[in-house]
Amino acid sequence: MNDQAQKLRELAKSTYVEPSLPQLKRAPGGRCVSIAVASGKGGVGKTTVALVLAESLANLQKKVLLMDADLGLANIHILLGIAPRFNISHVVAGECGINDILVEAAPGVFLAPGASGLEQLSNIDAGRLEKLRAAFTGLEEGYDYLIMDTGAGIGSTVTGFARYADLVLLVMTPDPSSLADAYALVKVLYEKGNANVAVAVNMTSSVEEGRDAFERLNKVVVNFLKKPVELYAILLNDREVLRLGRRQRHLAKGAGGVFYKSVAVLARKLSGYSIAEPAGKGFFGKLFGGAS
Ligand SMILES: Nc1ncnc2c1ncn2[C@@H]1O[C@H](COP(=O)(O)OP(=O)(O)OP(=O)(O)O)[C@@H](O)[C@H]1O
Ligand SMILES: [Mg+2]
Repeated sequence: MNDQAQKLRELAKSTYVEPSLPQLKRAPGGRCVSIAVASGKGGVGKTTVALVLAESLANLQKKVLLMDADLGLANIHILLGIAPRFNISHVVAGECGINDILVEAAPGVFLAPGASGLEQLSNIDAGRLEKLRAAFTGLEEGYDYLIMDTGAGIGSTVTGFARYADLVLLVMTPDPSSLADAYALVKVLYEKGNANVAVAVNMTSSVEEGRDAFERLNKVVVNFLKKPVELYAILLNDREVLRLGRRQRHLAKGAGGVFYKSVAVLARKLSGYSIAEPAGKGFFGKLFGGAS
């Protein structure tokens, strides 16, 4: 077979992104779309996906608020090689306002840097909670997308963020333990009433392997939870991710590997969608207001 043709075919296959996107309805001028990137198992690529998705959306002229919501081990800034002076902990402490901590990590991508060891947000006193509420409520109004990178696991912090998001982008790998943990997260989210779960299978060696992993997850979900999850993207193993990660250069222009291309395709599909209910509480309003 012709080498060039074979290569093109491989590329077409590997940039696969599921064409039928689910429930998000198009509503021109609608409110900010909140997407929580979550996983059961750690180390499956959440932060990398969140970062590259944020930049890909910004490349489509969307204004993106990227929030490091991994309150156990915040590390987006490390992946970016930046050392922000202020982070969410300073807002919690009432030392500065939310706008003081935002860093434009790439054109159009505004990072709210996270702090480690803040898992116990639920334990903060009423006065500070009020400050947080005031700082965050309405913040997302100036943005098209809010992308939240959450920590691993199914703890209350992760599910607390994920349950109010318009869409949970569940990142998993074909690894059996990742699959089991992904199922556990879907179960908790369904129990909490968040039904919009989109799956991205990451670090696969082929599209077939990714699809197979998704099918295994979805089968268990349908069997036991009765409502399927949707396949959004299959993201292949890409050495460029490791290379750019080591150099803290994920957002470097010119990243052309198959992972970056696939996430760009995912962003393009997502960018055509916004939320049908333009009014009402935004993400932070729900988060702090406790609406379900
Ligand atoms: N598609 C990919 N191909 C190759 N390497 C990848 C891919 N996706 C992620 N990685 C690498 O896997 C490692 C873990 O990624 P990342 O930190 O994004 O995972 P995480 O889910 O955020 O982890 P944690 O649960 O610790 O927050 C990193 O070294 C990253 O560069
Ligand atoms: Mg992470």
